[in-house]
Amino acid sequence: MDRWKYYDITHKYHILCNPLSNEKFERFCDLLSLSKGSRVLDIACGKGEVLVRLVEKYRISGVGVDISPFYIRDCKEKHRQRASKTDLTFIELDGAKYQPASGELFDVVMCLGASWVFEDHIGTLRALRKMARPGGLVIVGEPFWLKEPDTEYLEAASMTHDFSRSHEENVCQGEEIGLNCLYTLVSNKDDWDHYETLQWWAVDNYIQSHRDDPDNQELLEKTKMEKELYLRWGRDIINWAVYIFRNP
Ligand SMILES: C[S@@+](CC[C@H](N)C(=O)[O-])C[C@H]1O[C@@H](n2cnc3c(N)ncnc32)[C@H](O)[C@@H]1O
Repeated sequence: MDRWKYYDITHKYHILCNPLSNEKFERFCDLLSLSKGSRVLDIACGKGEVLVRLVEKYRISGVGVDISPFYIRDCKEKHRQRASKTDLTFIELDGAKYQPASGELFDVVMCLGASWVFEDHIGTLRALRKMARPGGLVIVGEPFWLKEPDTEYLEAASMTHDFSRSHEENVCQGEEIGLNCLYTLVSNKDDWDHYETLQWWAVDNYIQSHRDDPDNQELLEKTKMEKELYLRWGRDIINWAVYIFRNP
């Protein structure tokens, strides 16, 4: 089935497509303490909640880039409904291909939960840093291993060990290229459970209301596999954090 349709269905009820709780997300927005007109770039912006929330809170302006036509449609609708007269632009594009107009440097550049766009964590930090002004913020949402992943898990999930690293390494990789880590927001088990299991519910609701969709069988199989991976291994092996760095 179409990859972006799959994510659209599985994340139908998610406000953020990442395991940050509402409480932590509010703390994140408070901490940024931006000025009116600050320029924010969100690569792989999902449904645009971060940018729209920052517009509501600070009247920032910004750009969101995402490859999914479903999510860009949601972003534009959200912008129209909640912040229509504000300066936000949403672009459907592979984030790796995004070039800021006239080499603009943003006050805040982020990529939450999509570091494959720039190959990996360090690639993301490097790419974001190039688009951030001196003194601006570079923000990345990234998984980390809670403990050494079992080979069985890696095989079942078709992953290699270098899919992730430790929490410390996630911080150190940024600091090694000259960024200063200011703060981290680490998800807990409840946050992960909410993020993962809300997908099970969304899939069930979708199938109940789209009985004739030819993709249903594949959707069920994928969900069954993800459920098993999470319950048997993932829940105890992997976690996720948002890392806020200052560009010197
Ligand atoms: C885990 S979600 C995170 C979304 C959003 N940052 C959030 O935290 O709510 C990953 C996002 O990456 C987007 N994505 C995947 N590959 C991409 C690419 N090559 N370029 C831009 N966006 C991409 C997906 O459409 C999805 O919105």
